[in-house]
Amino acid sequence: MHTLYIAVSAFDIIALSLVIGPLATTLWIVPKDANIAFQGRLWRLTGGALGALTLSSVTLLVGRTLEMSRQGLDHVAHWLPLVVRETPFGHVWLFRPAILAMAWAAWFVGRNLERRRSAAAFLFATAAVIAFTRSATGHPADQGSWTLPEWVDWVHLVAVSVWAGVVFTMSITIFPRLSRERLSPSVRADLITRLSSVATVALICILLTGILSAYHYIGTWAALRDSTYGHILLVKLALVAVAVALGAANRFLFVPRIRAAASTVAIRSTSPHQTDEKPFGFLIRSVGIETLILLAVLATAAVLLHGMPPREMDHAIGGAMARAPRHAHPAGPQRATLRRTLTQRPQLQHFISTVRYGVLPMRTSTRDWL
Ligand code: HEM
Repeated sequence: MHTLYIAVSAFDIIALSLVIGPLATTLWIVPKDANIAFQGRLWRLTGGALGALTLSSVTLLVGRTLEMSRQGLDHVAHWLPLVVRETPFGHVWLFRPAILAMAWAAWFVGRNLERRRSAAAFLFATAAVIAFTRSATGHPADQGSWTLPEWVDWVHLVAVSVWAGVVFTMSITIFPRLSRERLSPSVRADLITRLSSVATVALICILLTGILSAYHYIGTWAALRDSTYGHILLVKLALVAVAVALGAANRFLFVPRIRAAASTVAIRSTSPHQTDEKPFGFLIRSVGIETLILLAVLATAAVLLHGMPPREMDHAIGGAMARAPRHAHPAGPQRATLRRTLTQRPQLQHFISTVRYGVLPMRTSTRDWL
């Protein structure tokens, strides 16, 4: 069941990236001279992704209802209205249908080419608000609404959606068509340079906000080493390192070669595409691999969202300790062991998720597991 909740979160995050990716590509990456070649396909991809985000919004509500009620699908009709009416998650989720309706209206308006750019900008803003509904119902919201961790998480998520989204868009829409479209080498070089710049800015935001969040949720090297949450984050960081290495190879090896080839063509007026074909081939393959790695990073992030950060675990242990006699309080290494045990025992998923979402009255406390 836990895997199902993780899959639902991963689906929502990937759908969000797939909406933001083609929009960022339309607004900032495709040069004017390549507009005719790609705009139609980019808009169709945005529409398809919006459909996926609409579906993921419904599955997210059903998934959280199952997670909070601990009941099967047959009881969902009973619990769902309660979750929407009575829980902070439900109150925030209620914004989604309204925002999605606005996003769909913008998408229909944007089918007219003359209004495409303003519709894309508006749609981007609606997607950013949907991203905030995630931050306002995840770990960052555990300390209250409109807090700094929520904003940090929101910037992280929007930047992640831009980076992963444009990489997905390149693999799905732009690169497969590139050799068929008769674009001049300078337009191709311009497109790739813009892609690299957008990805770099997004990556800087991701790394800064990711490190801030990691410090906020984990706090110490020991907690990173000893907790399941820390281990999942380390797996994620290893995958991120591979994706960053590929991005760096693109930026510092292939993009300069493509640009150099474009200027050679301009000076010698040799036939277009001949000189940049090889570095382009490398770049397309590298972005293909980056796409797979980023999908894995997003899936790992979804696992992280369903774990319990060590700081939150300390808070939960602290609450139980306040109710336990003094001599029973573990400290130092004992506390780390307790934290490890709490996150590793599958039967504690109920406790963890109840603390996380808190819809049902707590029937268990950490004391029962000591
Ligand atoms: C230095 C690198 C990074 C660090 C330290 C980091 C750390 C974190 C942390 C601590 C969280 C909070 C998870 C929670 O709420 O429990 C998070 C969320 C997330 N991260 Fe990262 N991250 C990094 C890079 C990335 C990259 C490169 C991606 C994907 C391209 C990514 C995707 C995500 C996603 C999708 C979320 C969930 C946001 C949400 O739904 O609210 N992260 N990250």
